[in-house]
Amino acid sequence: METLGSLSGKRVVVRCDLNVPLKDGVITDDGRVRASLPTLNALINQGARVVVISHLGRPKGSPDSQYSLAPVAQRLSELLGSPVTFAADTVGHAASNAVAGLQDGQIAVLENLRFNVGETSKDEAERREFAAKLAEFGDAFVSDGFGVVHRKQASVYELPQLLPSAAGTLIESELTVLDRLTENPQRPYAVVLGGSKVSDKLGVIEHLLPRVDSLLIGGGMLFTFLAAQGYSVGSSLLESDQIDTVKSYLAEAADRGVEIVLPTDVVVASAFSADAEHEVRPIDSIEDTSFGASGLGLDIGPQTADDFARRIAASTTVFWNGPMGVFELAPFAAGTKAVAEALTRVTGLSVVGGGDSAAAVRALGFADDQFGHISTGGGASLEFLEGTKLPGLEVLGWQQ
Ligand code: 3PG
Repeated sequence: METLGSLSGKRVVVRCDLNVPLKDGVITDDGRVRASLPTLNALINQGARVVVISHLGRPKGSPDSQYSLAPVAQRLSELLGSPVTFAADTVGHAASNAVAGLQDGQIAVLENLRFNVGETSKDEAERREFAAKLAEFGDAFVSDGFGVVHRKQASVYELPQLLPSAAGTLIESELTVLDRLTENPQRPYAVVLGGSKVSDKLGVIEHLLPRVDSLLIGGGMLFTFLAAQGYSVGSSLLESDQIDTVKSYLAEAADRGVEIVLPTDVVVASAFSADAEHEVRPIDSIEDTSFGASGLGLDIGPQTADDFARRIAASTTVFWNGPMGVFELAPFAAGTKAVAEALTRVTGLSVVGGGDSAAAVRALGFADDQFGHISTGGGASLEFLEGTKLPGLEVLGWQQ
C-alpha cells in the first residue's frame, strides 16, 4: 500500500472478501472478517476515510435480504472496537451519504456488491459502468479480497483500472505462503484433497502431480477414484463422466512415482442425515451392508484416518483443501478432525486452503494459530496452485 503515498484524509475504497457463512442471520465463522483487520487498521491509523466493499453469497443481481452485509458490518465494528457506518445500498443515496459523512480514520461498509447486476455481468461495458460508480467513492483503491481474485468482476478487475491501486496486506501474506508451496517446497510435500467434486479439483491435481510426493484423496470425490479402480460405491457421490480422467491421473502418478493415497475404509450410511444408521466398511465391500446399493459413503473410515494422519504428520510441507467427510454431521466428522489434528503436528509448513476447510477446522474446535496458515481463499488458492493467471492479481501487475 506504500505505493499509494500518504492516504491521510483520502477516501480509500477497499475490496475485501467478507463472504462469511451465515445461519439464520448469524455469522458462523468470522475468519474472513478478522483476516481483513490488518489492512483496515493500517488505513484507519493513517487517517484514511475507508470505504469497504464486498460480496456475500451469490444473490442474482438485486437486493436479497438473506445476503445483506449488515451483520458483517456489525461484526467488523465489534472487532475494530469502533463504530462502522453501514450503507443500505452499494452505489445509491445511502452509499453516497455514508461516504460523504466519513471523517479521517472512519470506516463505512457498503451493501453487497452482487445486489447490482454490473458486478458479475459477463458484459465488460456493464462491469465498467458499475466500477465507474464505485470509483467515484475513492481517491485510491486497495484490493484485499484474496478469496475473490480469481473472479473477473467489476470490483476486482475493472475498478483497479480506474483508481490508483495497490494490494492490501492480506493479499500479500496469502501470496507469500502460496509461493512457498509452489517455489521449491520443503519435502516431503503432501497435498490432501477432499470436498465433493473431482471436477472442481482436476486442474489442481494435474498441476500438482509432478510437484508433490503424495496426494491423499478423501471427501465425496474419493468415490470417483474408487470407481476408477473398479470398486462398487453404492449410492455414494460419483462423477461417472470423470472416471476416465481419474484413471489417467492414477496411471500418470504411477509413472512419476507419486503416491496417490486412497482410503482403505469408509463410513457407509443408510441416508444423508445425522441420525442415519451407519457402519465402517472396507472399500471392497461398500455395498455389503443391510442398506445394500443404497448405502452412501459419508466419511473416510478410522483405518484411513490413521493412515492419512501418519502421512501428514511425517511431511514437512502440507496443503489441505476440502473436508474428508460430511463434517457438519457429527457421526461423519471424525475423518476431517483426524486430518486437521495431524496438520497441527506438522513441523514445517501446514496450509489449510479455503472456505470449507477453514470453516471445518474452526467448527471442530481448532484455533487458527495451530496451523501455519489458514487461507481465506478456497477457489482462489486452488486456482493459484493450478498455475492459472488470476485476473485480480494480473490487474495489479502481480507477476505469477
Ligand atoms: C469464496 O467463497 O470462495 C469467495 O468469496 C468467492 O465467492 P464466489 O465463489 O461466490 O465467487
